[in-house]
Amino acid sequence: QTVYLSDYTPFGFVVERVELTFRLAPESTRVTSRIRFAPNPETTDRTFFLHGEELRLVSARIDGAEVTPDVTERGLTCAVPDAAFTWEAEVEIAPAKNTALEGLYMSNGMYCTQCEAEGFRKITYYPDRPDVMASFDVRIESDLPVMLSNGNPGAAGDGFAEWHDPWPKPAYLFALVAGELEARSDTFTTRSGTPVDLNLWVRPGDLPKTEWGLEALKKSMRWDEEVYGREYDLDVFNIVAVDDFNMGAMENKGLNIFNSSAVLASPDTSTDANFERIEAIIAHEYFHNWTGNRITCRDWFQLCLKEGLTVFRDSQFTADMRSAPVKRIGDVIDLRARQFPEDQGPLSHPVRPDSFQEINNFYTATVYEKGAEVIGMLKRLVGDDDYAKALDLYFERHDGQACTIEDWLTVFEDATGRDLSQFKRWYTQSGTPRLSVEERYEGSDYTLTFRQHTPTTPGQDEKAPQVLPIAVGLLSPNGDEVVPTTLLEMTEAEQSFTFPNMASRPVPSLLRGFSAPVVLEREASAEQRAFLLAHDTDPFCRWEAGRGLARAALMASVTEGAAPDVAYLDGLRQVVADPALDPAFRALMLQMPTQSELAQALAEAGTTPDPDAIFAAQEALMRAMAERWQDLLPDLAEQARVTQPYAPDAAQSGKRALGAAVLSLQTRLDGGTAARAQFDSADNMTLRLSALGCLVRADAADDALAAFEAAWSHDRLVMDKWFGIQIMLAPPAKAADRAAELTGHPAFEMTNPNRFRAVMGALASNHAGFHRADGAGYDLLAHWLGKLDAKNPQTAARMATAFQTWRRYDADRRARMQTALRTLRDRPGLSGDMSEMVGRLLGDG
Ligand code: ARG
Ligand code: ZN
Repeated sequence: QTVYLSDYTPFGFVVERVELTFRLAPESTRVTSRIRFAPNPETTDRTFFLHGEELRLVSARIDGAEVTPDVTERGLTCAVPDAAFTWEAEVEIAPAKNTALEGLYMSNGMYCTQCEAEGFRKITYYPDRPDVMASFDVRIESDLPVMLSNGNPGAAGDGFAEWHDPWPKPAYLFALVAGELEARSDTFTTRSGTPVDLNLWVRPGDLPKTEWGLEALKKSMRWDEEVYGREYDLDVFNIVAVDDFNMGAMENKGLNIFNSSAVLASPDTSTDANFERIEAIIAHEYFHNWTGNRITCRDWFQLCLKEGLTVFRDSQFTADMRSAPVKRIGDVIDLRARQFPEDQGPLSHPVRPDSFQEINNFYTATVYEKGAEVIGMLKRLVGDDDYAKALDLYFERHDGQACTIEDWLTVFEDATGRDLSQFKRWYTQSGTPRLSVEERYEGSDYTLTFRQHTPTTPGQDEKAPQVLPIAVGLLSPNGDEVVPTTLLEMTEAEQSFTFPNMASRPVPSLLRGFSAPVVLEREASAEQRAFLLAHDTDPFCRWEAGRGLARAALMASVTEGAAPDVAYLDGLRQVVADPALDPAFRALMLQMPTQSELAQALAEAGTTPDPDAIFAAQEALMRAMAERWQDLLPDLAEQARVTQPYAPDAAQSGKRALGAAVLSLQTRLDGGTAARAQFDSADNMTLRLSALGCLVRADAADDALAAFEAAWSHDRLVMDKWFGIQIMLAPPAKAADRAAELTGHPAFEMTNPNRFRAVMGALASNHAGFHRADGAGYDLLAHWLGKLDAKNPQTAARMATAFQTWRRYDADRRARMQTALRTLRDRPGLSGDMSEMVGRLLGDG
């Protein structure tokens, strides 16, 4: 059933205190709760409803007297006193049978929890909503050596451990971990001088992979003090790595729980990209301590309040730790790859949705990444100083509260005096705005006229103009910057901005830094793009010019069978060969638009995308590039060579990224000789895996794959790479068969989300492979999503998004995808998560 933002009402009671005792047993864990409730003065509704699912109620008492509540599948109601009272209950749960990985579950013998968003109700009866905040006392009983919960440690002894969390929190931030774990430990002293014990807990054997994560944690703690003035607030900070986890990680108060893929790293088993991602996720979860935990969300419609802001903060952190331009370009690539298709398809929803059936389906690129873009626009509009003032006010005013987007925007209005009522549309209006522009040069006046328009999206037929911060610079025809970056603030559907006294007609550099998450519809000529590629001072726009040229060349090759554009290749060569430029930036310049991005661009241009033709065009362009740059490649490979011992820092990673791009071109010429040599000699996973990828792409990887498997079969995270890469980069005709075959591999475990994603996620990401004309890719994915749905609805439903672009393809493929989705929809016992997703995908939900 659907929940609406407009239906919000506060809970009838406040929780003054929570005491929980866990007696752990795999099949029959007993949870006893003692909860102090008092009437909530904010409301007169005294309905006493506690959420509870998949619980066996053993007993319940109010003020010591046994009661018999009305129990349904969703929770219980009970008659309660008029004044404050104590609720006690005992329930039984079976963590060993919990394959949904929500609530209390087991992973390799270790107990662990995931409560966000609504998992606590699978642990005990409770008002499981984020606006109910309370301090928790927890006692864990078991014979396991390590027993952890939120807050500070209390008494511990033979067979028990107690924890006390002084900071009031919603139930979604509750966590418990117990198992045979080992920790790498350290101390961090806060700016005000308080020591904090840091521990990163792992299964025995994984300790060598914990150094990077702990370093990232210390960097994050320091950064949040220096940049946001935020200090940590408990005596200990624990992080636990778990192999079976639906998401990346979770910010439980004082006890962050991580998917092991998002925290464990070593040079021999992890790539540069893994290291960077881990650093960012550690930061993200740590930053939630203030943006999420100390200040949380009133209800789940406000999810972007904590996620958009925290993603924005972790992007700032990565920009500071590494290269800001490279991070920005990477974020835009990611936004366009994941958020744009979502916002332009059947799953489109506002950054703050106003209704949902299953909140787990709204942990999306729109809420997270577009949510972060919205914060970035706000910061740009008010300026850095006012942004800092507003954030200080936010922390001061709302600490300890459960807030809304209205609260957030009011803080900015109060701190800056700005009216943000129109800006608020970024939170309520879905869809990607399209921005077109016309130039006029008259006398010495140069005028830019912009028009914005947002296409309709499901449930929203009317769109109003958004506030668009458009950063522009102007270049003179000889390449000098005559107007440095200037912020234009567009608020109307159509608006002109004039730059007087321009001695000659300038070349505009538009949407610098990607200052607004829009599609810029601009008929820039190839000459203009080439000019910007050569001269723009804004790294994003420079990269964008190259990307635009590549996209145009590829589209021409798909639609007209045009030969690869030689002028483009020569222009790109100037940039790529320039030793003064950051190798990471040059690697980004070499990264071609993805096949999916091309499919989207073709569809927008009114051409039905043919996945095979797109693949062929991309291959032809890469081959042409390799041939035309034959003389350059050895020199580039030399520039990309790292001579120092391995370090996952920005400088080395950038070189290796450039090296990987060069190797991929080289493989087009030599069929894999260089890649095989690199594979054999590599002393780190980055070089080894990029070589393996080239071999797979060249369909010359059989031996290498066998050697890799033999060497790494003991390491789950490395084996995920092995499963993934051979499907992701397989020749399109082979991808679905390879994926099907690998589901029969003894190490394929569908209940492990990482392994399932390694296979099925890889298939979905092989564009031409997934869209094989006979529908084999669709059927295989839908079949496995159905199977997984019965065990783990959250992960299954999330992966169904692979079908979100189904309407853009030809009638035959469309029909096959529709049939696959309908078959999935009609499965008996389909979960609520999946039925909402499939309903929305098909457009009948
Ligand atoms: N709050 C977590 C994070 O972004 C993600 C939790 C996801 N939970 C879920 N049910 N989808 O850091
Ligand atoms: Zn988050």
